[in-house]
Amino acid sequence: MLRCDELTKFSREPNAYCRTYLTPEHRAAADWLAEKMRETGMTVREDSVGNVIGRYEGQTEQARAVILGSHFDTVPDAGKYDGNLGVITAIECVATLAATGRRLPFAVEVYAFADEEGTRFTTGFLTSSAVVDGIINFPLRHVDQDGKSVADALEDYGLSVENISTAKRHSDEFLAYIELHIEQGPVLEENDLAICPVTSIAGQTRLSITIDGKAGHAGTVPMPLRRDALTGAAEMIIEVERVCRADDRLVGTVGTVNVSPGALNVIPGEVEFGIDIRSGDDAVRQSAVESLLAFFRTKAKERGLEITTEVKQTTPAVACDPELLKIIDAACADVTGRSLQLYSGAGHDAAIMASLCPAGLIFVRCKDGISHHPAESISLDDADMAFRAMMRTLERLAESWAPV
Ligand code: GLV
Ligand code: MN
Ligand code: MN
Repeated sequence: MLRCDELTKFSREPNAYCRTYLTPEHRAAADWLAEKMRETGMTVREDSVGNVIGRYEGQTEQARAVILGSHFDTVPDAGKYDGNLGVITAIECVATLAATGRRLPFAVEVYAFADEEGTRFTTGFLTSSAVVDGIINFPLRHVDQDGKSVADALEDYGLSVENISTAKRHSDEFLAYIELHIEQGPVLEENDLAICPVTSIAGQTRLSITIDGKAGHAGTVPMPLRRDALTGAAEMIIEVERVCRADDRLVGTVGTVNVSPGALNVIPGEVEFGIDIRSGDDAVRQSAVESLLAFFRTKAKERGLEITTEVKQTTPAVACDPELLKIIDAACADVTGRSLQLYSGAGHDAAIMASLCPAGLIFVRCKDGISHHPAESISLDDADMAFRAMMRTLERLAESWAPV
């Protein structure tokens, strides 16, 4: 937990924790994490998309590995534990093995993923996707708020677009991916339980909608003659809420709105807003997205507005590996004496890594279920239980999954 505190010094601003992909604070945090990994005796490298990877060999050199990982980027004004707790705990697990010279039948690799949130370029899971797919789905042309593309930001960071594919790993290198993460919701707390395994992870669609109207003088243009992009967008945003409230299998959020030209006395001429829609059921999500897009087009037409829609990302819902789930469930029960399994409404690198190897996720209770907020908080006892559950998972894997 002290290390999670310490990581907050690598932030864009001192008073609002924020560390996004390919920024100077990303660089500094990556170096710091590499150092912590090295201190345990791991071999450390950085891949072609900025992930920091430590490797602790097993009983035989070149054995297949179990990956322990999570992400070290954050949302704006973030909490301390989202992602970072999983990275730090993974390093701590290896430190514990290394302190007694203990080798498992498999290697352990720690992956500190450089971009999961997608805060900077809208698209999330960028760097776990590169591990799974190489360059295939890497959105090189997506831009940040300043118009800088992923490709240019990579080059500025000292990485090369040409090398992206080298981040890709192969299924036969790995036995499993295991991630520890705060729950980011209130269910563990309601159940008076510190940790539990996760059964599946929600799918999500991220959309960017641009509405073009006509900017003009706020005092002189009569109301019926206006083509106000923002009032049009406002009706669309309310529809996102209405559609998602009408079906408890859906959640939908509009978390960004950019208004141009952005002055109190100018009719908004252009608005871009970002939508995040999630569901455990891909068909439900897909049909909500289609009905929203149809509504937006009708609404834009009614108001004389132009509309452009772009699907920035689609990630299907993913089930955690059933065999690994059993092992993690037993490991959590070893520590807590109880068993409960949760579904994750939040996205995790585990959902991406699941297409590379069996993936599993352990949740740890967070206070009042608060996350993506500076009040994010966990207890030391729970962090300790989470650490012990990770260790028990490794031990149980070592007993049951001899490497091939
Ligand atoms: C990541 O925190 C996400 O679920 O968006
Ligand atoms: Mn997050
Ligand atoms: Mn996270």
